[in-house]
Amino acid sequence: MTRTVLVTGGAGFIGSNFVQMLREDRPDWRVINLDALTYAGNLENLTAVEADPEYTFVHGDITVAADVAKAFAAGGESGVSDVIHFAAESHVDRSIASGLPFVQSNVVGTQVLLDAARERGVQRFVHVSTDEVYGSLGKTGFFTEETPLSPNSPYSASKAGSDMLVRAVHETHGFPAMITRCSNNYGPYQFPEKLIPLMIANAREDKALPIYGDGMQIRDWLYVRDHCEAILAVLERGSAGEVYNIGGHNEYPNIDIVRAILKHLDKPESLIEYVTDRLGHDRRYAIDARKIEETLGWTPRYTFEQALPMTLQWYQDHDGWLQNVRSGSYRDYYSAQYGA
Ligand code: NAD
Ligand code: DAU
Repeated sequence: MTRTVLVTGGAGFIGSNFVQMLREDRPDWRVINLDALTYAGNLENLTAVEADPEYTFVHGDITVAADVAKAFAAGGESGVSDVIHFAAESHVDRSIASGLPFVQSNVVGTQVLLDAARERGVQRFVHVSTDEVYGSLGKTGFFTEETPLSPNSPYSASKAGSDMLVRAVHETHGFPAMITRCSNNYGPYQFPEKLIPLMIANAREDKALPIYGDGMQIRDWLYVRDHCEAILAVLERGSAGEVYNIGGHNEYPNIDIVRAILKHLDKPESLIEYVTDRLGHDRRYAIDARKIEETLGWTPRYTFEQALPMTLQWYQDHDGWLQNVRSGSYRDYYSAQYGA
C-alpha cells in the first residue's frame, strides 16, 4: 500500500537513519521530512536521498502551525497518511544549561503537531520517546511499559510531558497515536556531543576523553538501525494507544564503552579524564523489551560487540562528515538555501 509519511526531525541522527531506511525498504512510500535545522539538524546526513523524487524536505519548525501546515500540504491531494515524530531537543547536558528550548520544541511542538495531524485525519502517529522518562534504576530491575514516569532532567521531563499529550489525544479523541520508548542509540550520523561519537572524535585527535563522575553509570545500547526497524514495526503493526519499550539487552558502564573505543582505535587509556559529574545524573537505564518482541515480532539484529566496530569504521570512513560537524561548517551546507 502506498503511504505518505511525514517524518519530523529527519535531519537529525535517528531521523536521517530512518528516512534512508524507509526509502530503501519501502520504496513505494513517499517521505516528507519537516526539520527546523537546529544545531543538531544536518542535511549532509541526507545526501543519499536528496535527489529522490519520492522524498521532500520542508524547512520548518514544529512549534509554528504555519510550518507544520506547509509540511502536510506537501502530501498533495492524497494527504499525509502517517506521522513519525522524532523532532526534539535531545541532549541532556544542554537541557541542564537551559530548559526552555526543550519545553518549546518537545512539549509545545508536539501539541502543535498533534493538533494538525488530528485535524487532517492522519491514520497512524508514532511518537518517538525515550527510556529516560522512567528515571533511574538501581542495580537490578528493568523499565517496563508500566514503570511510573519519574524524569530527572529538563530533557526527560519535557519528553514525559510530550508523552502525556500523546496519551491524552488518544484517550480524549481516539486519535491513533502510539509511543515508543527506546534506550541509548549509537551508529552513523550521531552528533558528536553524545558519548560514543564524542569519544571517537576526541580519541582520533588525541584529545582528552571526559568521563563524568566515576564512569560507572550504565546505559542499554541499541544500534540505530535496530531502533529504526522497531519504529517501523510499531507504525505497521502496533496498536493505537499503546506504549512500546525498545532496547538492545546491551548494558555497559560508560567507562567500559570508552575503554573499548580506545582499544579499537589503538589509543592509550591516559587520554581518559575524570571530570565533574553531570547534575542529577541517572545511574542506570535498562529496558524490558518483551512487549514489542512478543506482540510485534521485533528483535534487535545487532549486538554491541558487532555494531560498535561497524560504528567506529563508519566514523573513520566519514572523516569529512565528522570534521564538518566539529568545525561547524556543516551549517554552510544549507545556510545559503535556507538562511538558517
Ligand atoms: P537529534 O538531536 O540528533 O535530532 C533532532 C532533530 O530534530 C534535528 O534534526 C533538529 O533540527 C530537529 N528539531 C529540533 N527541534 C525542532 C523543531 N522545533 N522543529 C523541527 N525540527 C526540530 O536527536 P536524535 O538523537 O536523533 O533523537 C531523535 C528523537 O529520538 C528524539 O525525540 C529523542 O528524544 C528520541 N530518542 C533518542 C535516543 C538517542 O539515543 N539519541 C534514544 C531514544 C529516543
Ligand atoms: O536513553 C535514551 C537517551 O540517550 C536519549 O533519550 C537522549 O536523547 C540521548 O542523548 C541519550 O541520553 P544520555 O544522557 O544517556 O546520553 P549521552 O550520550 O549524553 O551520555 C551517555 C552517558 O555518558 C551518560 O551517563 C553521561 C555520560 N557522558 C556523556 C558525555 C557526553 C560522559 O561521561 N561524558 C561525556 O562527555
